[in-house]
Amino acid sequence: MKRYHVTTFGCQMNEHDSERMKGMLESLGYAEAPAAEEADVILFNTCSIREKADSRFIAHLHQAKGLKQRDPERIIGVGGCWAQSVKDEVFARFPFVDVAFGPGQVHKLAEFLTSDSLTAQGFFEFEGFTGHLPGKRARDFQAWVQISAGCNMACSYCIVPSTRGREVSRPLEELVEEVRALAAEGVREVTLLGQNVNSWGRSLRAPAGRSRSFAELLHAIDAIDGIDRIRYTSPHPSDMKEDVIRAHAELPSVCEHIHLPLQAGASRILKAMRRTYTRERYLDRVAMIREHVPDAAITTDIIVGFPGETEQDFAQTLEVCEQVGYDGAFTFVFSPRRGTEANAITEGLVAHEQKVERMQRLVEVVQRRATERAQRFVGRQLDVLVEGTSRTDPSRLRGRSRHNKAVNFSGVASPGEIVPVQISAATSQTLTGELSLLASASRVA
Ligand code: 5AD
Ligand code: SF4
Repeated sequence: MKRYHVTTFGCQMNEHDSERMKGMLESLGYAEAPAAEEADVILFNTCSIREKADSRFIAHLHQAKGLKQRDPERIIGVGGCWAQSVKDEVFARFPFVDVAFGPGQVHKLAEFLTSDSLTAQGFFEFEGFTGHLPGKRARDFQAWVQISAGCNMACSYCIVPSTRGREVSRPLEELVEEVRALAAEGVREVTLLGQNVNSWGRSLRAPAGRSRSFAELLHAIDAIDGIDRIRYTSPHPSDMKEDVIRAHAELPSVCEHIHLPLQAGASRILKAMRRTYTRERYLDRVAMIREHVPDAAITTDIIVGFPGETEQDFAQTLEVCEQVGYDGAFTFVFSPRRGTEANAITEGLVAHEQKVERMQRLVEVVQRRATERAQRFVGRQLDVLVEGTSRTDPSRLRGRSRHNKAVNFSGVASPGEIVPVQISAATSQTLTGELSLLASASRVA
């Protein structure tokens, strides 16, 4: 039997695409190999969001070159955003690559593997959502659901609109059917995926002729039996409407966590980033979340050192972080990306040392506020979806709260169970506790 190995870089959408690659390969009769050295088909699902993502992947690709030299029958494939951003150039730069395909072209891998000529084929069209590949999920009880493909925003720093194309929403009925089928297989938690999830539905028509809304989709999925938790990523603050925020308060399965990418705290920089909201408008969204779902965890993405960012601008980013009190944040140093608008900016570039220094200050504020925020969980009993054993202590269990906090706890429970955990300590990243002896109604085997 032929064997494959997939290495995944980048975001959750890429992880999901990799699951679909694996499902497709298994339907073609391939089995998963534990390491690239043992595989007949070696695949990389790549990311290009920052320069670091590129360089990490290139190092892996050179290892694959060595494996191909040892066994020329091996197939090397490169998919995902980096592949899309360089397209056919990949064959000139890396002649040992046999097949390359963009993020929307995962299904073309099957066409390639079953074709007669297994050399230098590239697939880079944008086709919207490319259908119903059988996914191979990492866990039986959790699933990704891709609700849209592509992105219609034009954030000036971001390579994604050029790697994933224009936005296409999948129909409501199709998504409901997919989640029903997942629930029937034992899935309890779904994460809805899109580059801009909450703009979902704008191009779709409901029977009455109006367009669909993301809140409507949340309602429809909440109504499906067996789905206990709904998450989604990533929303755009400009499309964060009150009906979506209310859904968090009103629908039992929509989790108390909202990832709301800030990117920068100064309206001037937001404008240069083409984020389509101001600092005030962003804070207004946060206030609306706090009003309807006071306990919600709010997390964010922040970019430091965008061209033109002054000390005053950066101080405003720190201020927003102090004010919001994020439960967590992903922080990035600005990285110029080929083909983006910001890549062409030549004035006001922030020096590397300055970026590093700002990053340190930012991380201090983010972590301090996250640690403070996390203390609200101490002494409370939280429902935890068990994922497995703790990474640092195999005698303990690990899971996630509805707020998306990692929880390490003592007790006996199986992966996929939702159990009550009494929280005794909290850091910025993790909560610690023990399985509550009080049986909870939420405990379902
Ligand atoms: N440089 C640094 N960070 C970036 N991101 C996107 N593009 C860039 C870039 N060119 C960050 C944004 C986005 C997250 C996924 O990655 O914060 O929300
Ligand atoms: Fe990387 Fe963005 Fe592509 Fe995801 S969508 S793989 S983060 S470039």
